[in-house]
Amino acid sequence: MRIVVGSDHAGFALKEHVKEFLKASGHEVVDVGARSEESVDYPDYARAAAEAVASGDADYGVLVCGTGLGMAIAANKVPGIRAVQVMEPALAEMARRHNDANVLTLAGRYTDPATAERIVETFLSTAFEGGRHERRVQKIASIEHTEDADGKES
Ligand code: RB5
Repeated sequence: MRIVVGSDHAGFALKEHVKEFLKASGHEVVDVGARSEESVDYPDYARAAAEAVASGDADYGVLVCGTGLGMAIAANKVPGIRAVQVMEPALAEMARRHNDANVLTLAGRYTDPATAERIVETFLSTAFEGGRHERRVQKIASIEHTEDADGKES
């Protein structure tokens, strides 16, 4: 798969680790930065990565900041993005199975590299279940448009 990764300064070290893990796992990696631990603003990187996923240039995104929280908030402003902040592998699985999440955000200051590997591996290897969850994901998308929950223009 083609995975876009990004971080701010606080997520830089874990992003670099995840990038090497992804490459070693056979994925193609696009890195939108940051390039160092010099202080930067996480929304810039969230936006770049989220737009790559939304446009289809990347299959999934992995974003890292200190908590993963700001990255998730920012990435979710891009239409088509379902970003989730994940601290444990079981929730990475549910985010894919039920929510069809397409961007994973990690907490560089709270998640160790080994746990991050397990979260990323679970996220990328778990399929969306569809079925009743498809309807719910479509309702999330309807919030981005001027539709009500049943898909009618309002
Ligand atoms: C940077 O200090 C920190 O605020 C950022 O990495 C992130 O945790 C924001 O959500």
